[in-house]
Amino acid sequence: MAILITGGAGYIGTHAMVEFLNAGREVICVDNFSNSKPCALERVKQITGKDFKSYEVDLLDYDALEKVFVENKIESCIHFAGLKAVGESCEKPLLYYHNNLTGTFNLCALLQKYGAKKIVFSSSATVYGKPASVPITEDFPLSTTNPYGETKLMIERILKDLHAADNEWSVSILRYFNPIGAHKSGLIGEDPKGIPNNLLPYVAQVATGKRPYLSIFGDDYNTHDGTGVRDYIHVVDLAKAHLKAIERAEKVSGVEYFNVGTGVGYSVLDIVKAYEAATGAKVPYKIVARRPGDIDECYANPDKAYRVLGWRAENNIEDMCRDSYRWQSNNPDGYGE
Ligand code: NAD
Ligand code: UFG
Repeated sequence: MAILITGGAGYIGTHAMVEFLNAGREVICVDNFSNSKPCALERVKQITGKDFKSYEVDLLDYDALEKVFVENKIESCIHFAGLKAVGESCEKPLLYYHNNLTGTFNLCALLQKYGAKKIVFSSSATVYGKPASVPITEDFPLSTTNPYGETKLMIERILKDLHAADNEWSVSILRYFNPIGAHKSGLIGEDPKGIPNNLLPYVAQVATGKRPYLSIFGDDYNTHDGTGVRDYIHVVDLAKAHLKAIERAEKVSGVEYFNVGTGVGYSVLDIVKAYEAATGAKVPYKIVARRPGDIDECYANPDKAYRVLGWRAENNIEDMCRDSYRWQSNNPDGYGE
């Protein structure tokens, strides 16, 4: 019996594949490589010394996806596949709604049809909108500010309705805070296309000399040093949370929501200092205008994940920076062409 991993070739998916394979689980990857490359899966095989099946399939293609269910005994699913760039989602809302929602409809219809009613879904702290306070617990009010976030919230609601209609479903909704870092092997990591949107890939490219300086978006936020505060979590810790979530979904049905963060908030300036201290590299920066839509502070109360799943983050900010730097130094052009 296999676990279907959608989006398994992506940043978080590859790290999860490694953890699942190391735990002796059978996995099958489905990815259309719209934001990833097949060689990332070769690296997963290299790290684990294990083989697995992978399909180049678009979740929008129901018939091609059904073939994966016909050819394999699938018992559950970790659903990473989706488009994730906030800015792009504002420019191309239909693309985002179509890809993320229709892909999920096809997937869920097949999970239902083939009796594999267990899903772990990649949601995001973005569903908390601009939180009234921090740390954030799972019962905070939900709202979003962009089409990407809207797709996450809609999918959360769709999965809840699925369970309401058929309570054999096990749904585990993981709300990720800010995943960063890379596998300790330096073989897999985040490979953004073009100019990175997110802080850590940008810092990594500055630290390794690929870009001259970091632009810090605003220093007048209501935080300890004026720069934005986030809850950065090591991608390997995040990957491990999926294993705990699927183990629980195998035992109980229901719909559960978990914050996956460390519970600690770091500002942009804290990150610059931590990166320099952990790596010895320099990260020159300039303060520029705020980026529209950014919030002051966002960090989790991750207690529920510990209480219910027995999961908590193990890597600290130094580990995250060091591992990010190793990946970027070893792979200056990511996975290359
Ligand atoms: P990623 O882009 O690296 O991985 C997503 C993968 O899904 C890619 O390999 C892409 O090719 C694939 N994909 C996209 N649409 C597809 C489709 N229609 N059919 C088949 N494959 C498809 O992103 P990631 O950072 O690994 O994120 C994984 C999930 O976690 C996403 O759903 C994302 O929204 C969510 N998430 C990410 C973050 C983050 O900061 N990285 C934060 C919160 C939530
Ligand atoms: N920042 C900079 N300069 C940069 C990039 C970012 O100063 O070049 C700052 C931002 O203003 C923010 C912090 O660094 O204060 C983190 O920004 P990121 O873009 O790395 O992350 P966000 O918290 O804005 O967004 C991320 C994901 C979203 C997700 C959200 C909540 O990109 O998809 O976390 O989970 F919705």
